[in-house]
Amino acid sequence: MERLFRLWSQLASYWSSLLTLGFSLTVFALLFVFIKRSRSWSRYPPGPTSLPFLGTILQVNFYNPHLCFNQLSKKFGNVFSLQYFWTNVVVLNGYEAVKDALVQKAEDFADRPYFPRYEHLGYNKRCEGLIISRYGPAWREQRRFALSTLKNFGMGKKSLENQISQEAGFLCSAFSSSSGLPYKQLIKKAVSNVIYSLTFGERFDYDDEKFQRLVEIFQQAMKEETGFLPQLLNEVPFLLRIPGVPQKVFQYQRASVSLVDEILNKHKETWESTHIKDFTDAFLQEVEKTKEGVETSFTYENLCLVAVDLFSAGTETSTTTLCWAVLYMLLHPEVQRKVHEEIDKVIGRDRSPNMLDQANMPYTNAVIHEIQRYGDIVPIGLPHMTYRDTELQGFFIPKDTVIITNLSSVLKDETFWEKPHQFYPEHFLDADGQFVKREAFLPFSAGRRMCLGEQLARMELFLFFTSLLQCFTFQVPEDQPRPREDGSFAITHFPHPYQIQAILR
Ligand code: HEM
Ligand SMILES: *[C@@H]1O[C@H](CO)[C@@H](O)[C@H](O)[C@H]1NC(C)=O
Repeated sequence: MERLFRLWSQLASYWSSLLTLGFSLTVFALLFVFIKRSRSWSRYPPGPTSLPFLGTILQVNFYNPHLCFNQLSKKFGNVFSLQYFWTNVVVLNGYEAVKDALVQKAEDFADRPYFPRYEHLGYNKRCEGLIISRYGPAWREQRRFALSTLKNFGMGKKSLENQISQEAGFLCSAFSSSSGLPYKQLIKKAVSNVIYSLTFGERFDYDDEKFQRLVEIFQQAMKEETGFLPQLLNEVPFLLRIPGVPQKVFQYQRASVSLVDEILNKHKETWESTHIKDFTDAFLQEVEKTKEGVETSFTYENLCLVAVDLFSAGTETSTTTLCWAVLYMLLHPEVQRKVHEEIDKVIGRDRSPNMLDQANMPYTNAVIHEIQRYGDIVPIGLPHMTYRDTELQGFFIPKDTVIITNLSSVLKDETFWEKPHQFYPEHFLDADGQFVKREAFLPFSAGRRMCLGEQLARMELFLFFTSLLQCFTFQVPEDQPRPREDGSFAITHFPHPYQIQAILR
C-alpha cells in the first residue's frame, strides 16, 4: 500500500513538473506568436471600423460595389481593408499597388477564395473548373491544357482567324437585314458561336431556337451572381442546405450546367481518338489517357465545369466590349470617321479584314484599346486570395485574405493617363500617329491568373469591330435622344440600352 502511494506521489510530481514545463512553454509560445502577430497586424492595411459578425458590409452597396468605395480609398489610401462577415478583404487601388501584387508578388496573390455557393453545381475541392479554381496542381493542369488546346485549335492562328472572319460576315448580314436592330443579341450570338465552336465544334444560325435558349440561360445565370444574396449564401453556407434554396436562387446556373452536360453527353458519342476536332475531344482524350488511381483534374465532371467556365468567361466580356464600341462610335462621330478612313485606305471595301491589317492600322488599334480602357468592363476584376503571408507597399497581408484588384482604378489612374475620364484614343498614339502600348492598360488583369482568353478576345475585337465598320456607319436614330455615356454594373460594367441605326456604306 505504502509503496503504491509512494509510486503515485512520484508519478504525480513527475506529471506536475511536466505540466508546469508544458504550461510555461505554451505561454511562451503564445506570447511569442501574439507579439509577432500583433507586430505584423499593426501593419495590416487600415479600413473602416468593423461591426461584430457583420463586419463592414453595411458600407458596401452590392449593386454598385465599384462606386461606393470611392470615399474609402480617399480616406484610407490605395491599400485598405474591409471585413465581409468573418472574411478579411483588402482592396488595391491604382496601377502601382495592383502591379506590385499581381506581377511582383505573383504567387503570393495567385489564389482564389473558396466559393461554397457553387457546391450545388458540382464544384468542390477536387473538381474546380478553371476560373474559381484554387491555386494548385489542378488549376495549373487545367490552365496549361486550356491554353495549349486553344492554341492548337487556332488561338493566334490563321484557322481561327478565318472562322471569326466568317462569323463577322454573318454578323454584318444580320445587321443589315434587321430593323429595330437587336444589336446586343446579335453580337452576343456571334461571340458565343466563336467560343462554342472552339469548345464543341459547331456553330448555330442566329435564329436557331436551341441557340436562343442557350444564350438566354447563360445570361440569366450571370444575373444570379449580382446583389447581396449570393454574397450572403457564400458567407453563411448552411443557408444553402435549406431544401429548395439553391434550386430557387441559382435556378439558371443549375440549368446552364445541365445544358452543357447534355451537350457533352451527345458529343461523347461522336468522339474518336484519331480525330480530335475541338476542345471537348481533346479533354476527353486526356480523361481516357488517365490511368486508374492517378489523381487528376481530367474527369468528365470537371470537363463540364471547365466548358461552362470558358463559355461564361468568353461571351459576356467580348459582347459587352463590342457594345461599348458601337456606343462610342455613336457618341464620337469624328472618331468613327477616322476609323472609316483608315479601313478604306488599308483594307478597302472588297475583302474582309485580317489580323495582318492590325499592324497597318494604328488609329483603329488605338480606338479599340481606348474602348477597352474607357469601357472598363470588369471594374473590380475577379477576387484573388493571398496564398501565404505577404507584404505589400509596407503593409502586412496574412495568408487567406481576399484581395480585390480595382482594375477600374488602374484604367483610370490619374497619374498614368492624360485624360483618364474622357474617351481619348490618343492615349495609345505617339506624336507620329503610331500605336503605343501603355503599361497601365490592364483590362485583362495581370500575373498568374490573368485572362486566359486575351489573344482570342483581341482577335474577336479587331475582326468584329473592323468588319462592322467596313460595312456600316452607326448613327443615333433621328427620333432618339443622345445615349448616355455611363453604364451600369453587374459582374461586368455595361452600357445602358441604346438604339442604333446601321447605314450601309
Ligand atoms: C474583352 C474580353 C475579355 C476581358 C476584358 C477579360 C477579362 C478578364 C479578367 C479581368 C479576368 C480576371 C483575371 C484575374 O483574376 O486577375 C479574366 C479571367 C479569365 N478569362 Fe477573360 N476576359 C475576356 C475574354 C475572355 C475570353 C474570350 C475567354 C475565353 C477563352 C476568357 C477566359 C478567361 C478565363 C478562363 C479566366 C480565368 C483565368 C484563371 O483564373 O486562371 N476571357 N478575364
Ligand atoms: C475603384 O476605382 C474607381 C476609380 O478610381 C473608384 O471610383 C472606385 O471607388 C474604386 N473602388 C474600390 C473598390 O476601391
